[in-house]
Parts: sequence; structure tokens; C-alpha cells
Amino acid sequence: TKAQAWSALFSEPMSDLVKRYTASVSFDQRLWRADIEGSLAHAEMLAAQSILSDSDHQEIVRGLQQIHSEIETGRFDWKLDLEDVHLNIEARLTQLVGDAGKRLHTGRSRNDQVATDVRLWLRGEIDLIAVLMQDLQRALVEVASRNVEVILPGFTHLQVAQPVSFAHHLLAYVEMFARDAERMADVRRRVNVLPLGSAALAGTTYPLDRERVARTLGMVDEDGAARVCQNSLDAVSDRDFAIEFSAAASLVMVHISRLSEELVLWMSQNFAFIRIADRFTTGSSIMPQKKNPDVPELARGKTGRVVGHLMSLITLMKGQPLAYNKDNQEDKEPLFDTVDTLKDTLRIFAEMIGGQVDAATGEKSGGITVNPQPMEDAARKGYATATDLADYLVKKGLPFRDAHETVAHAVKAAQSHGCDLSELPLSVLQGFHPQIEKDVYDVLSLRGSLDARNTLGGTAPAQVRMQLARHQARLASK
Ligand code: ARG
Repeated sequence: TKAQAWSALFSEPMSDLVKRYTASVSFDQRLWRADIEGSLAHAEMLAAQSILSDSDHQEIVRGLQQIHSEIETGRFDWKLDLEDVHLNIEARLTQLVGDAGKRLHTGRSRNDQVATDVRLWLRGEIDLIAVLMQDLQRALVEVASRNVEVILPGFTHLQVAQPVSFAHHLLAYVEMFARDAERMADVRRRVNVLPLGSAALAGTTYPLDRERVARTLGMVDEDGAARVCQNSLDAVSDRDFAIEFSAAASLVMVHISRLSEELVLWMSQNFAFIRIADRFTTGSSIMPQKKNPDVPELARGKTGRVVGHLMSLITLMKGQPLAYNKDNQEDKEPLFDTVDTLKDTLRIFAEMIGGQVDAATGEKSGGITVNPQPMEDAARKGYATATDLADYLVKKGLPFRDAHETVAHAVKAAQSHGCDLSELPLSVLQGFHPQIEKDVYDVLSLRGSLDARNTLGGTAPAQVRMQLARHQARLASK
């Protein structure tokens, strides 16, 4: 057999270096299932359109099925000489079924083939990611449901600001991941469109039924109508769907990274708000007392890697004239690594946060352990209810700005006494404003502060329970 698919025109062979430089089979072999699926759909349509004989079609199906099992069982001999996954499979097919194999590429180019393969592969991965994103949200909701009454110091500028329910804090992340999941679903709609039939760049002279192929491959809208790329030049050349996916993945990772930063902080001895199971930590080779939060730290680190891939992909596109250019071969490694990193991270986070049920014993292990006392103590330390005192005075008729100033004086006094606002005697508080009465202590408590924020989206336990119920219903229905 010839060393290259286009060999006759070439007067000299490729050097080994050029071969290695231009080949993609070492990484794009991962697209083999999509490649075979796309070829089967294409061949089926060619036969239905009488472009291919039924017997050739049957041979192609037989050959591709054998290749499928060869690859699946690790018996397929991938050849660098054959450059990429597409040429490797096609060459083997021809080896197996002869001329029928050579007819498969009728009305097709590797340009529309690879665009189709990547889309098919990515669609499957997005579906797996969607499930993992649900699992992570469920884990957060589950921990939240057990911690509605636990009070955490809410921070702004990492300074104690106002007390919040720990569940409310976790549900903030659920909101982020819910938006991320929506974004992924939206990306999927644009991924799931068929390039095949565009051929190299201009379309093809054969009477292809592109919509039939699209339906075979499940590239259809909600009503079952085929979704086919409408411009052949665009179909083979743009990778915006991969960039979009990578942007959505970056946002997921950024949200995980923010959560990671908090987990690391909360685990520090100076906070001691939570613990995570030992299996997500590692020890130190020198300091015997250490349990380091390696998993959240690595997730934070890997976020850089995923965001980097977004930069790679978007930069890859920017200088390309229409239509296909070999630059696009460089889309695969960043895309693959983004998917791998995201899936692993989602999986490990769902387990680290929510724990895991042992299939055999039904027992749950892992999951974060919440320490309510240090959280409350920390909230009490930073005058977290100062705003509540100001609001109290406003309700007595003071303009907010005056109330703000009055409370600043009270905080200063409490600081010099080394105590919390709620520990100042009534007589002292009344020194700041005569309208302060005994009921002030209700608003100065952490619990009172929480209860008072009983508006939609607020941290009052009643509101948090409402949100919990909404998320539980949303996540159960899928
Ligand atoms: N391996 C190539 C890629 O990943 C397949 C398409 C190659 N097409 C071509 N005309 N060289 O993009």
C-alpha cells in the first residue's frame, strides 16, 4: 500500500520529523467511535441514494464492525504513517473489504469528516458532564439541607461582614453551577449540527441526503427535525462550538476554583470551619502533623489549565482564512484535556462534598464535616450585627446615615471593651442613642440578624428552606 493517501503526485517521501509533526493519530484516535458512527451513517445514506451498491454498503458495515471490535479490544494497529484516525480506519477498511472500502469516501472529505467527528464526540461528553454537574449540585444541596441553622460569618473583602446561613452560602454555588449547566445545554444545541455533506469546502456533486445523515446521527432539534450546517465553507472551518464549550467549561472551573479557595481557607486551623475526608488530603514528608487539602488546591490549579486551553482554542481560530486549514488539527488536545479535567474535577468534588454511598453496605462515607461552633464564634468576633443595629435605629426614625455613624461609635466602644455589641449593657447602648431599648438585643444576636433578612434571596432560614425546596425539586426531576 502507498505510504500516503495522496501519494502519486509526490516525488519524495516525508521526513520522519515532518511525519511526526503533522500526524495527529497519537491523540485523535480517541475519536474512533465517532468516526465509525459517522462513516456508517454516511454509507447508509450513499446506499439509500443509490450512490453506493447495497453489497458495497454491506461490506462497509461488516468491515467497520470488525474495526470497531479490533479497536475496542486493543488489537488495532495504529500507524503514524497514516497520519490520523480517519486515514487509519479507512486504510484498514480497504484492507478488509477491498474496493467497497475505497468507495466510502465518495462525496466526503476529511474536512467535513473531522468536523463531524469532533461534534459527535463532544456531544457525548457534554451529556456525561451534564450528569456530573447534577451530581455536584445535589451534593451541595444535600449538605446545605443539613446546615440551614448553622451560622457562618459572611465576608466582603474577606472581612467579617454579616452573618449568613451556611446553607445559604452553599446554595450560592448551586446557583452558579445551575447557570453553568444551562450554558452547557445551550452549547450542546450548537454542537449538535451536521457538517457532513460539505465535503472539502464547496459541497459535493453527488445527490447526498444530508438530513438523513443528520437524523441517523441524532443531530435533530426538539421536534426531531434534522440540523444540518447550512454553509459548506463555514461547516468545515469554524470551531466556535469548541471554543464555546471551552468557555463554558472554564466558567465551571472558575466556580469550582472559588469554592476550592474557600474550602482551603475553612480547613485552615485558624478557621477550622470544616473538615474534608482524609482520602482527599495528603500528608507532608517532613511535618508529621499535616493534612493538606491537595484536592481543592489542585482543582484551583487545574482551573488555570482549562482557562489556558480556552486561550489556545480562541487564538487558534483568529488568523484563519476560510475554509479549512490544518491549524484546526490543534483543536483536539486542548479540547480533550478540558473534557478530562472537567469530568475528573466534577466527579471528585461531588464525592468530596457530598460523600459517597457504598454500593454493598449502603453506608455513606466522605463528605465535608461542618463545625458550627468555630463558624459562629468567628461571626461573633467581627461585629457582624452592626448593620442590624443601624437598621434598628432607622426603624426608630433615624436617617440611615445618622444611624450608621451612631453604630460606628458603638462598635468603637465595644472594641475598647474587648466585647461584642450584644455584650454592651443597655445603659451604655442608650448613651449612643436614647431610643435604644431592651428589644435591641434581639437584633444584635446572630440568629436575629439572620431571621431579619426574610426577603426573596435573603439568608433568613425560611427563605433558605424555600430555595432548598426549589433546588431539590429541580434536581429530582431529571
Ligand atoms: N487530522 C485532521 C484534523 O484534525 C483531519 C482533517 C485533515 N484535512 C486535511 N485536508 N488535511 O483536522
